[in-house]
Amino acid sequence: MAHFEKANSIGEWFDQRLATKTLERVLAKEYWIPKDINFLWAMGMVLAITFGILLVSGIFLLMYYQPNVDTAFDSVNYTIMQEVGFGWLWRHVHAVAASVVFLIIYIHMFTGIYYGSYKKGREIIWVSGMLLFVAFSAEAFSGYMLPWGQMSYWAGMVITNLFSMGSLEMNGVVEWIRGDYVPGQAFLTRFFMLHVLLIPVAILALIGIHFGALRIPHVNNQNGEELDYEVEAEKYKSGNKAASKVIAFANDFMSKDMFVVAVYLIFFFYLTFWNYSFAMDPVNFDPADGLKTPAHIYPEWYFLWSYEILRPFSKDIGLLAFAFAQVIFVLLPWLDRSPNAVPASRRGLFKYWFWIMLANMIVLTTMGKLPPEGINNTIGLVSALLFIGQWLALPFVTMFEKKV
Ligand code: HEM
Repeated sequence: MAHFEKANSIGEWFDQRLATKTLERVLAKEYWIPKDINFLWAMGMVLAITFGILLVSGIFLLMYYQPNVDTAFDSVNYTIMQEVGFGWLWRHVHAVAASVVFLIIYIHMFTGIYYGSYKKGREIIWVSGMLLFVAFSAEAFSGYMLPWGQMSYWAGMVITNLFSMGSLEMNGVVEWIRGDYVPGQAFLTRFFMLHVLLIPVAILALIGIHFGALRIPHVNNQNGEELDYEVEAEKYKSGNKAASKVIAFANDFMSKDMFVVAVYLIFFFYLTFWNYSFAMDPVNFDPADGLKTPAHIYPEWYFLWSYEILRPFSKDIGLLAFAFAQVIFVLLPWLDRSPNAVPASRRGLFKYWFWIMLANMIVLTTMGKLPPEGINNTIGLVSALLFIGQWLALPFVTMFEKKV
């Protein structure tokens, strides 16, 4: 048994047992953040807060939701929306947060790409971020199944069909995933389990890794300047804060982060109270019916770009193109061959690569919502080929970039 002195305060009592002062120093008081960053660096905190909102609102919905094919639809659309006091509010908060979280994830991701924040020791931040993106996608998809409306059912049917692997027709796999020949009770129960337990736990673990991976390389800055953190931190600690290029995470940087979070919450609650319908598909207000296929089956807006990469091709090539789109972002730190971790505007051909990629993903998103006919097919095909071509070209685009 270790020797313990009598503590003089509650703080000291905890410090003796949990080393809370060391934790506070390493994670907050002496966790150094460069001064030269803008509001885009608050998106990580905005994401963490949005995830918190999803957890809390989800717990309230869970108190009345029933994961049963006969009662799920009514438990959401009748019990929660009409009978339970403020049930509608929790549902709107949850639906809006589920949609907005993807907008913020895309902004956060493209900020990272623009500033080259996936390079030079930041690979684990990037890969854990991409795994978070995949986990959030799975979380959104499984949540979409739960109200058991028409879109839940048919999106579930179409997406699980992908696992038949094109003309390999591995139907056994599809049925194994569904637990039945078509989406039914077994399907709903397992997606319920994934949505409320397994994926949230995975997300929490990934957020832990993502934050941990930030501690040593620190966040990047607007000019990609390499800082000597020890020298800059000494200036800060000695009281020469103006000359130092860094500030402490707590309380200095936190207060700036919280300002951006507050502005974001105004936007968030504006959507929740006045414009929530964008986050809910009208077709999903009809109960699931396995005998009535909706005229157009399309995913939520945040999946449209990858859906549009799948659609213009034949079954097999479409599936390969879709799989390519899902994994290729993970490889970015290794496909970008340039040594420069600076903003895209200061890099050679990469700056065109970046803006074309962003614009093309917006085109793909727009096309994914339109019915696949006439000129839409041609635009979709060209955009999908451009997307794939850009990624294949990336090593060559960046290989000869001069060091800045
Ligand atoms: C819920 C999901 C996520 C949370 C809570 C989160 C949180 C954070 C936080 C707090 C930071 C530090 C401050 C900042 O730069 O904003 C950060 C940095 C970073 N994140 Fe995420 N993130 C998430 C998802 C992602 C995704 C999907 C990616 C894309 C692959 C990503 C890539 C990065 C990168 C590259 C950095 C380093 C930025 C830099 O060094 O300047 N993150 N993240």
